[in-house]
Amino acid sequence: MKFKLINSPFAETTADAAVVGVFLDERIDEILATVDVEFASAKAELVQHISDAAKEDKFTGKLGQILALPTYGQIAAKRLVFVGLGKASEMKAQDARKYAANLSRRFKSVEKVAFFLRNANAVGTESSAGSKKKDKKHATPEGESNGADLAETPSTDSSSYAQAIAEGWKLGGYTFNKYKSGKDESSSKEATIKFAGLDISEKTLVAACQSGDAIAEATNHARRLIAEPANYMTPTKLAEEAKSVAKKTDLTCKVLDVEQIEKLGMGSFLGVARGAKEPCKFIVMKYDAPKSKRTVAIVGKGITFDSGGLSLKPPVGMEHMKYDMTGAAVVIGTMQVIAELQPDVSVLGLIAATENMPGHDALHPGDVLKSMNGKTIEVNNTDAEGRLVLADAITYAVGEKVDEIIDIATLTGAVVTALGRCAAGIMGSDQTLVDNLIACGARAGEKLWQLPLFEEYKDGLKSDIADLKNAGSGGQAGSSSAGMFLQEFTEGKPWAHLDIAGPGWLDRDRDECNKGGTAFGVRTLCYYLLNAE
Ligand code: BES
Ligand code: MN
Ligand code: ZN
Repeated sequence: MKFKLINSPFAETTADAAVVGVFLDERIDEILATVDVEFASAKAELVQHISDAAKEDKFTGKLGQILALPTYGQIAAKRLVFVGLGKASEMKAQDARKYAANLSRRFKSVEKVAFFLRNANAVGTESSAGSKKKDKKHATPEGESNGADLAETPSTDSSSYAQAIAEGWKLGGYTFNKYKSGKDESSSKEATIKFAGLDISEKTLVAACQSGDAIAEATNHARRLIAEPANYMTPTKLAEEAKSVAKKTDLTCKVLDVEQIEKLGMGSFLGVARGAKEPCKFIVMKYDAPKSKRTVAIVGKGITFDSGGLSLKPPVGMEHMKYDMTGAAVVIGTMQVIAELQPDVSVLGLIAATENMPGHDALHPGDVLKSMNGKTIEVNNTDAEGRLVLADAITYAVGEKVDEIIDIATLTGAVVTALGRCAAGIMGSDQTLVDNLIACGARAGEKLWQLPLFEEYKDGLKSDIADLKNAGSGGQAGSSSAGMFLQEFTEGKPWAHLDIAGPGWLDRDRDECNKGGTAFGVRTLCYYLLNAE
């Protein structure tokens, strides 16, 4: 995408659509006078017609409301689009991402768009959100805070605002037509976005927008990996995808096959892989920051299909289980952004990729596995496979002497029950890390809600014959119980776990999230890592 800061008069700005923001209960004629005095006085009659149309459609400037009008050549832009900004005092970047996505989705053919961001300067100060030198104040909340505050942290500065629009525009334009006869996927648009009314330099604007562009591009790429059916997106294919991202950038990527995984002693991961004909892969991606002091590991669950194994899922529960590799897709997408935007922190991207199938060699419920760190696990439920593959991936991360571990997984149905599809569950052993991720999620427009890791939950994971069993009994606190299981493999390293089973899949488009696999987590991880050192 291309980005420009403009100061041409509104009526003379060429675009497929000129978008004008309207605060709640503002008068359209007054706004047009603010945006372009000459135009408003020269074309008073037209302005009146526009005001009437707004009244007719009950357009009041309520947040997210859209009013689109043809311009019949009266101004240089082909369409005039008003978008409701809600209350001026509550304006934030998170909302801009949403309306930009909705506009982009609705006006699929629009390639050149001009945003007249009225008054954005009145609510913010200059700082660049996702670009290289960042404003740390959102990412590192000071003092006492609770999850509710962090999850609502608003971004109001102009850079965050512009970046959010760039992100939203690209995210809302996502399509996946590969398997639709006669539809051309390559027709995806390369937009030009013009911005007016921002109090930042063009350089700052372009840097912020390019961060947003890179993040949205990688998110859409991750979405395509998830959208691919399991008969295409096998562990082997997923590994090829990781390789191809690495090849285009200066990431390294190695793919371990079954034999090498056996050598490492990943008995827990291999146990899950046993039931599938498709061979499993362990994928290691690495970004070495030139001046890094720290390495963060991001670990993704890469179950390319989760049938449940012999603890077979019912058909309704299995329908969308191609998205059980969302964590892996998020890791690949995030690594792509990191390679492009080069933060000052090194990142190790790990993926344990396999199918979970009930093949002839599948795990029997009751089997005991020996994990890479030596702990034995009684598999009382073969459908709790995510934690089995993640256990060994986390152990691998510990062995690489990373400073911090963040795993991301569609881990439990219980988190969908608890939080629905609008927020992911987050747990962890390091409250600062958890707080930072929640705050970054808020700025990125991805809600994270903390769930507890109480010691008591460990009781449910006690096995009569092994060190642990993989599924707590009784289906109580399922997400926390899974979190407690994972914690057993972190060896005391600062660690956070994102359970994205809920927001990872949507049945209908919702703002910047498309229906189907959303690749939830790419933005949060990118905002976090781009601000880390
Ligand atoms: N991949 C599923 C979790 C899941 C369920 C994701 C629904 C998205 C929607 C995971 O492997 C699983 O099956 N978890 C079990 C755990 C249980 C057996 C302890 C679950 O949540 O039912
Ligand atoms: Mn499962
Ligand atoms: Zn699963």
